Amino acid sequence: MAGNSFGTLFKLISFGESHGEALGGIIDGCPAGIKLDFQAIQNEMTRRKPGQSAIVTQRKEDDEVQFLSGIFEGKTTGMPIGFTVLNTNEKSGDYSHIKDVYRPSHADYVYEKKYGIRDYRGGGRSSARETVSRVVAGAIAKQILPQIKINAFVSSVGEIFIDKPYQDLDFSKIESNAVRCPDENTAKKMEDFIKEIRKEGDSVGGTITCVLQNVPVGLGEPVFDKLHAELGKAMLSINAVKGFEYGSGFCGAKMKGSEHNDLYNSDGTTKTNLSGGIQGGISNGMDIYFRVAFKPVATIMQKQETINKDGNLVEMQGKGRHDPCVVPRAVPIVEAMAALVLADFYLINKTQK
Ligand SMILES: Cc1cc2nc3c(=O)[nH]c(=O)nc-3n(C[C@H](O)[C@H](O)[C@H](O)COP(=O)(O)O)c2cc1C
Repeated sequence: MAGNSFGTLFKLISFGESHGEALGGIIDGCPAGIKLDFQAIQNEMTRRKPGQSAIVTQRKEDDEVQFLSGIFEGKTTGMPIGFTVLNTNEKSGDYSHIKDVYRPSHADYVYEKKYGIRDYRGGGRSSARETVSRVVAGAIAKQILPQIKINAFVSSVGEIFIDKPYQDLDFSKIESNAVRCPDENTAKKMEDFIKEIRKEGDSVGGTITCVLQNVPVGLGEPVFDKLHAELGKAMLSINAVKGFEYGSGFCGAKMKGSEHNDLYNSDGTTKTNLSGGIQGGISNGMDIYFRVAFKPVATIMQKQETINKDGNLVEMQGKGRHDPCVVPRAVPIVEAMAALVLADFYLINKTQK
């Protein structure tokens, strides 16, 4: 299976499956001498982990990170940082019913056709449990860039959305509710709706908005490795992501240049920021903001028609522990992937002048 690494200079190589012994990774290219805040890393893991509230999967994992190399006396040594996170609460029996059938809109069918073998336990490598490695690496990447503020939050669930620009939101409220929506009234409506959807045995999609502040001018490369292209790839590599837009995004396509252009102030900042903090693929020092769309996840507790290995039409119903709406748990994953992209470009930028 190719494609398990991400990044150029600050690189994560990830391994592991949902119901294997452990997940983990190697971070290659982390600069030496960074004093790591291990509690901050563990806090990010706690934000991502399952079983935190009534609106997410009830799988219970400690998700404690064990570092194996690349750290001495609390500081990075410049050597590869190896780490593992054990799987302790897998219930593979919950998945025997999908051994010979393919869940509609999950990765079961394509994995089996591509590799000729499928680890059906918890979705194997296609499970979002894989994202633990991203969150560990992202938490370290954040510590390379302490001046940059990275805040992601749930901006919509189904048809319920925050009807305010991000500038009017208080990011300190993001963690104050189970949905991770900083607007408390909207958060309550979202939470009630997700509970309803769970009772119906269904799932629902949503969006996450992410804001990157204090990003210096100059991150991103001008041709293929544009900052927004790498952010897009990072976000679209997260399980269940269906869309990415930054700055004015798809709305910009309806505007005139006279409305869309961001006029300069004398210090190089701009009066508006429809560019979303990126011009020509390079950060311009303004806030970078983008939105990521997540689909309603495939495993639902309702009966659906599908096919089995022999190509016969059969009926199936989801079992086991699943997220009715993934956006609350995906918030730290979006932040981690943004941090990986920024750390990589920060190190690349040091080679440019
Ligand atoms: C945090 C998170 C949790 C997820 N939990 C589930 C789940 O409980 N059940 C499920 O079917 N899919 C879940 N997914 C989505 C699947 O991993 C994903 O749909 C699958 O790998 C197929 O990939 P695709 O949807 O990107 O095509 C989750 C995704 C994320 C980001």
